[in-house]
Amino acid sequence: MSDSIKVPFLDLSREFEDLSEEWMSAIHETGKAGSYIGGSNVQAFEKEVAGYVGTKHAISVANGTDALVLSLRALGVGPGDEVITSPYTFFATAEAISIIGGTPVFADIEEGNFCLDPVSVKSKITDKTKGILPVHIFGHPANMVAINAIAKEHDLFVVEDAAQAFSAKEGDGIVGSLSDAGCFSFYPTKVLGCYGDGGLITTNRDDVNENIRMLKNHGASAPFMHAEVGYNSRLDEIQAALLRIKLQQIDQAVASRNTVAGRYASNFNDSPVVVPTTPKGGRHAFNLYTIRMPNRDKVRQALMDKNIPSSLCYPLGLHLQEVYQDLGYKVGDLPVCDKASLEALSLPVYPDLTFEQVDYVTETILSALS
Ligand SMILES: Cc1ncc(COP(=O)(O)O)c(C=O)c1O
Repeated sequence: MSDSIKVPFLDLSREFEDLSEEWMSAIHETGKAGSYIGGSNVQAFEKEVAGYVGTKHAISVANGTDALVLSLRALGVGPGDEVITSPYTFFATAEAISIIGGTPVFADIEEGNFCLDPVSVKSKITDKTKGILPVHIFGHPANMVAINAIAKEHDLFVVEDAAQAFSAKEGDGIVGSLSDAGCFSFYPTKVLGCYGDGGLITTNRDDVNENIRMLKNHGASAPFMHAEVGYNSRLDEIQAALLRIKLQQIDQAVASRNTVAGRYASNFNDSPVVVPTTPKGGRHAFNLYTIRMPNRDKVRQALMDKNIPSSLCYPLGLHLQEVYQDLGYKVGDLPVCDKASLEALSLPVYPDLTFEQVDYVTETILSALS
């Protein structure tokens, strides 16, 4: 196999070529209408996502972090409240709890799928616990059946961090429809990504919908009437126009991601590489393809030597981050997360990745391990 194969971590240029005509025409229409904020594309996109995810409401916001902050605030989280979440995620998950004065409480993850472990969640409940914030990490749905059962027993809310998992399914249920509120990011690297920043919340609850719509618009209860100090969090019209085009093709795009993942898995068969599990009867969205192996750093170096990018998602659990030192966690408290931080390596995965590129990556890894 040639040593000159290029494997970018993400390549949006081909996608842009395919979409550019439709998107440029949508930009042109937006310009002609002269409506750049809160226009017809934003409204239509919210309706279309609610229809796709299967919720009564979808509320667009400026990014995925805002989606989390607004959902948690709308559900009443404030100083003194604990929210149980995953330590194995992007920082924004826990940061959203802290931003509004709550305390993140970290439970351990499951070995196979890197998602929150319901048994560990149960052990973390105190009389200050207000809710649970599972993360569908890398595109794998968290165990929502078990998490919702715990929440029901203890009268807690559940918010899904679905930033990396648009269109993933637990059984027949699409993530974002499986709890009080689902939070999405449309950052360009996401399964459904725009060409800038964007985010959205899905919910079946009228009260949550109303609260979020008020909070995202400066806490306004009516034009120029402010009931609370809120935020300015808006998805813009041009991003919404692009997202509407991409939403029409999302199932095809995620099927291609699954095809790439299948090629990786069969190439790694009978090797020391542990491949990600796929949900039984559901759907993995494969925002990232994260493998684990004992000699992770040696493998990463071998990939770097061939200019193949990979990513350490995530090299240090959030419970051990400097910013959360005061919470008092130490190495060994969440052993499955600690182990994942040492062994996990995320590989390129996107619809346009070719089998030739995948084979080049796996061959490099397998020869480093032999
Ligand atoms: C799991 C997770 N949660 C939240 C976020 C925050 O999303 P955004 O970057 O759109 O604010 C991200 C994105 O990076 C993420 O991966």
